[in-house]
Amino acid sequence: MTAPKTSAHIIDGNTLSAQLRQEVTQRTNALKARGLTPGLAVVLVGDNQASEVYVRNKVKACADSGLHSVLDRYDASMTEAQLLARIEQLNHDDSIHGILVQLPLPAHIDANKVIESISPAKDVDGFHIASAGALMVGQPGFWPCTPYGCMKMLESIGCDLRGKHAVVIGRSNIVGKPMAMMLLQKNATVTICHSGTKDLKAMTLQADVIVAAVGKCNVLTADMVKPGAVVIDVGMNRNPEGKLCGDVDYAGVREVAGFITPVPGGVGPMTITMLLVNTLESAERAAAERGLA
Ligand code: GUN
Repeated sequence: MTAPKTSAHIIDGNTLSAQLRQEVTQRTNALKARGLTPGLAVVLVGDNQASEVYVRNKVKACADSGLHSVLDRYDASMTEAQLLARIEQLNHDDSIHGILVQLPLPAHIDANKVIESISPAKDVDGFHIASAGALMVGQPGFWPCTPYGCMKMLESIGCDLRGKHAVVIGRSNIVGKPMAMMLLQKNATVTICHSGTKDLKAMTLQADVIVAAVGKCNVLTADMVKPGAVVIDVGMNRNPEGKLCGDVDYAGVREVAGFITPVPGGVGPMTITMLLVNTLESAERAAAERGLA
């Protein structure tokens, strides 16, 4: 006789997002009552189709939670100097508390230069070197939205990270590296794996928590997961049949893991939610500085 199979608990990013956005709406209304409306500026250069969708969703999310937003759309022919000048204006605009320049930028614009031109006080994407440095040394600052959302998901299941072994697969500046720093800050023992890792399975089999952020289908399969582990899937890919999939073989891994995030409906909705949280917190700081008690 075989023991009945148990399936992982699903961490539902839509439900958690809805809860967090309700809090954002309440805090936004409280701030408005004190005379300040949180404002986000979203800057899009060029006509990348995926970026169009992301940007539209960000603007809609602001409206749904009562935040003010401006969408600056520019032709791909915009020069770097023009973009830097616009960011300088936004840096000094008191109605704007968060500035987000949608990436990728056209090849003739230096994305690093643009990101570094954003005031760290308005860097709600958390991509500025000052934000990365603050996270590194445990100082207050904006956390990049996707890994921040993953931390909220771990918090939502009561996952105490102290002494746990967390394995992050992927070392991007936007997800993998900041994710590792956040897990470390919560006292996990952290391993970062990447394309040069010799035996990924040997690493992931030791993990209590796995965060997969590679951008490739089926990087993590059931045989690579310790029974009961928490699996967070940051991937958003298309398989050869054109179906949306994460980095994790969901059907297989959910039979082994204790908790798992689905794709879609997992980390995805959390990213925009944390952008709202960062923008709101920036506005709350501005209100405190202006003495709007
Ligand atoms: N392009 C893809 N994801 C993101 C994001 O989270 N922020 C920005 N600015 N650009 C992106």
